[in-house]
Amino acid sequence: LPEPGVVALTGPDVAGRLPRPGAESNKYRRGVIGVVAGSDRFTGAAVLAVAGAVRAGAGLVRFAGAAEPVRQVRARWPEAVTAVVSPGEDVKDVGRVQAWVVGPGMGTDDDAHALAASALAAGVPALVDADGLTLAARDRSLLRRAAPTLITPHTGELGRLLGVPADEIEARRLYYARRAAAELGVTVLLKGSTTLVAEEGGPVRVNLTGTPWLATGGTGDVLAGIAGAYLAGGLSALDAASCAAYVHGLAGRAAAGGPGGGEAPIAALDIARELPGAIRS
Ligand code: APR
Ligand code: MG
Repeated sequence: LPEPGVVALTGPDVAGRLPRPGAESNKYRRGVIGVVAGSDRFTGAAVLAVAGAVRAGAGLVRFAGAAEPVRQVRARWPEAVTAVVSPGEDVKDVGRVQAWVVGPGMGTDDDAHALAASALAAGVPALVDADGLTLAARDRSLLRRAAPTLITPHTGELGRLLGVPADEIEARRLYYARRAAAELGVTVLLKGSTTLVAEEGGPVRVNLTGTPWLATGGTGDVLAGIAGAYLAGGLSALDAASCAAYVHGLAGRAAAGGPGGGEAPIAALDIARELPGAIRS
């Protein structure tokens, strides 16, 4: 920075766009987010994505998944409404969902594919992350949707989607973020030490609020929940991604501040804990 076609996200940009409830609000107007995540093997991703969604201020979080992640989500987030989904079951018409988050820890087998396809068939915005992106790399038709689609890959996931080695993506992140947006017709949030948000025909937004302490398992799952909550709250995919990256980075920094203010390791759930303070600031 500075570079043509690139803008850095600022606090006022984000503060002016964050959803804020008013007197006329109710939980449905604030946004119902549906989360399809986790599997009997990976339960943590489900808990973390739900944590991000609840703490970002979703009106209602609906979680649909396998029995074990449902048990874990119920135990940790009583605020969420959960449903165990059997293989082959359709979720696209689950009650009043205004945006879907699909992918973290859901696995990549045929049942996972069917579940992802069912959520992505809904005519509402959707965020695809993690295993959802691995499924989409094998079957790009998952991303051909009528409603807006936001993808949130790290370098490796974007590489698989585009069929390009991860180190090449890492060397030309701006180029590949833009190219993915154009080639796939989606909004792209590319993770890394800086986070890029790209959409065809517009400048790339860069988020600089993060900290290297975010490089720990599960922080991406929390980000997916935050961005999904903003999508459900009515933000465009571009604004949902930008606002989520910004507050996620701030919350990560706050968590890494540690008790004495010095920097310290964080756990992914700490981000959810710090999120209300980050949003307030
Ligand atoms: N500086 C700032 N932020 C960083 C840095 C860094 N050096 N490195 C990573 N981050 C941020 C990213 O921008 C992103 O917000 O941390 C988050 C990491 O997200 P992911 O890469 O999606 O990682 P996550 O999914 O949480 O954890 C790894 O992915 O490979 C799978 O299943 C595996 O559970 C594992 C998971
Ligand atoms: Mg991830």
